[in-house]
Amino acid sequence: MHNSLPIFELKQVSQKFGQFRALANVNLKIYPGERVGLVGSSGAGKSTLIRLLNGTLLPTQGEVWCLGRNLSKLSPHRLRQVQRRIGTVYQQFNLVNNLRVIHNVNAGHLGRWSFVKAAVSLVFPLEVETAAKALTQVGIPEKLYAPTDKLSGGQQQRVALARVLVQNPEVILADEPISNLDPQLSREMMDLLRDISDIGSKTLIISLHALEFARNYCDRLVGLRQGKIVFDIPTADLSPKMIEALYRTETPESTVSPSLIKHIEKYSSSRWGERLSSSVNGNRK
Ligand SMILES: Nc1ncnc2c1ncn2[C@@H]1O[C@H](COP(=O)(O)OP(=O)(O)O)[C@@H](O)[C@H]1O
Ligand SMILES: [Mg+2]
Repeated sequence: MHNSLPIFELKQVSQKFGQFRALANVNLKIYPGERVGLVGSSGAGKSTLIRLLNGTLLPTQGEVWCLGRNLSKLSPHRLRQVQRRIGTVYQQFNLVNNLRVIHNVNAGHLGRWSFVKAAVSLVFPLEVETAAKALTQVGIPEKLYAPTDKLSGGQQQRVALARVLVQNPEVILADEPISNLDPQLSREMMDLLRDISDIGSKTLIISLHALEFARNYCDRLVGLRQGKIVFDIPTADLSPKMIEALYRTETPESTVSPSLIKHIEKYSSSRWGERLSSSVNGNRK
């Protein structure tokens, strides 16, 4: 089906934190240009998977291959070289709040700049035009010299995206990029991510607990539940049964987060009937 080599390949990956297994026997291939949604409730292992993909975490078992390299076998220097080609946007934006926007955007160069160049740029900003262009792309060109902590949450997430644009990676990973944004800003951010991946033919992998957004923006959905892949499908094949499998609670003490209930209730009031909400709510007692 795919002519090219995968950008990412996970082979029998498990990730333990102490005794706790956050991911179990995950096998996954992601190809160039794909737009993949990682979905599942809180604690399913989405962030852990994103961290394995960008090499900020190495698997306790199995292999993570990225751009043709087994990340566990790389020297720190080679690992950084691979990491330059992967851009990540986080839920918490990960910006330095007491710096002006331009410095946060220019942090996208840090994988390439020497320490001295980076230090000089903090006093006399370098590559101002590149930063300005990236901010124009994300719709806030006027914020170039604004103090980052004076921006709204939606604007800060745009800065985080501009930083990734400056980095110009082949792959963009986004870990719940909209969970701190209201619905309107969420749509704008998802539109931006889609446009950026379209324009640059970049691979996009987004973790989302909002299934609705994943359905609207991703071509492929990987469902995670308690550290395991429960489905890996073209988005069009998503069925109510799969959603049940994703969110059903099996142990009495486990709960479904209120936001998920809201999403599922939204579905249940639509063409999929009440089945979902009763199966989820019925298990919550
Ligand atoms: N550094 C860590 N130490 C211990 N447990 C962790 C750590 N990171 C994640 N976990 C646990 O692994 C599970 C999966 O977490 P995570 O990947 O953050 O899920 P998600 O992003 O889907 O909410 C959770 O139960 C979480 O508590
Ligand atoms: Mg997470």
